[in-house]
Amino acid sequence: MEELNPSLRLLMGPGPSNVSYRVLRAMSTPLLGHLDPQFMAIMDEVCQMLRELFQTQNRMTFPVSGTGSAGLEAALVNLLEPGDTAVVCVHGVFGQRLSEVARRAGASVVNVEAPWGQPIDVQELIETLKKHPQAKLCAIVQAETSTGVLQPLKELGAFMRGGETLLVVDAVTSLGGVPVEVDAWGIDVCYSGTQKCLSVPPGLAPITFSPKALEAVNRRRTKVQSWYLDVTLLQKYWGSERVYHHTAPISMIYALREGLRIIHEEGLEARFARHRQLSERLAQGLAGLGFGFFAQEGHRLPPLTSVYPPREDLVEPLRKKLLSEHGIEVGGGLGAYAGKIWRIGLMGETCQPQNVAILLDALGREL
Ligand SMILES: Cc1ncc(COP(=O)(O)O)c(C=O)c1O
Repeated sequence: MEELNPSLRLLMGPGPSNVSYRVLRAMSTPLLGHLDPQFMAIMDEVCQMLRELFQTQNRMTFPVSGTGSAGLEAALVNLLEPGDTAVVCVHGVFGQRLSEVARRAGASVVNVEAPWGQPIDVQELIETLKKHPQAKLCAIVQAETSTGVLQPLKELGAFMRGGETLLVVDAVTSLGGVPVEVDAWGIDVCYSGTQKCLSVPPGLAPITFSPKALEAVNRRRTKVQSWYLDVTLLQKYWGSERVYHHTAPISMIYALREGLRIIHEEGLEARFARHRQLSERLAQGLAGLGFGFFAQEGHRLPPLTSVYPPREDLVEPLRKKLLSEHGIEVGGGLGAYAGKIWRIGLMGETCQPQNVAILLDALGREL
């Protein structure tokens, strides 16, 4: 069998994004044991850098082993018990996934919906929360990757602050690309994934639990249904006790540490500005080529631009040609929008001026 030799791709889809050589090098450094004191120091560094990224003081901030969906499950299965009410916002695929997982956890789910391409109407959501004051949680996707919509959260957080209902936020495509202010916005549980704006391979789900969320977990009448994702067990490994739970994915933690170091060196404000400015440049170039925009104006997500290509018959053939002849991956639409829209990612390492120019140049020639 031949040696593995994948083509170099420019990853401009909805994730994974390109990964820097620094991160790849970190992944190929020798393994430590998961209870080695040197590895524990690395764990502490990772947790501290994650707190800075989530803009939180939450002690229980760590990477869940698994992709973004593991973060999603960890958030819901720790908080929900059979019979609880969960208010779940659905304006795309990932809201649907939250709703499905909440139902599987035994919750009675109240969906608040918005058409794909639009944000959730916060006033309507607040009215629903007023009708369900006993709801255990309200879950919402900040950056809906299936539509390219950025959901405002400040007003919702301000309404929920001080109440009993916990605010759960999916920041899989937002963390590291746009502000995610866990403490300032009153978020109780927030999770992400490594393969988007952090530019680390898929495989870890950074997550943070507020003290209020942990109190709710500790007040449960039943055990957390997932042993693997049970935060009361995981905190014994990630906290000061250092008790074995499962073997940590050492090389992925090295990778995350390096990815977080890169973010720290750049600075959050500069990073957010880079995503904002280059997504504007991309949008201008696409508009000039005849592309239309899918996400509602004023709610477009800088790390992911969703567009209608100029001709419907070109949507899939041109996307395939970009990959096969130009080595550029862009994402197709999901659900009802499969074959209708593209989702173009400018996340983390991929979000560079030269990549915007390369894509616009390739499109200009093909069109
Ligand atoms: C908003 C959002 N939530 C959850 C997920 C699930 O993450 P994963 O595919 O890494 O399991 C994704 C993945 O694209 C996502 O974009």
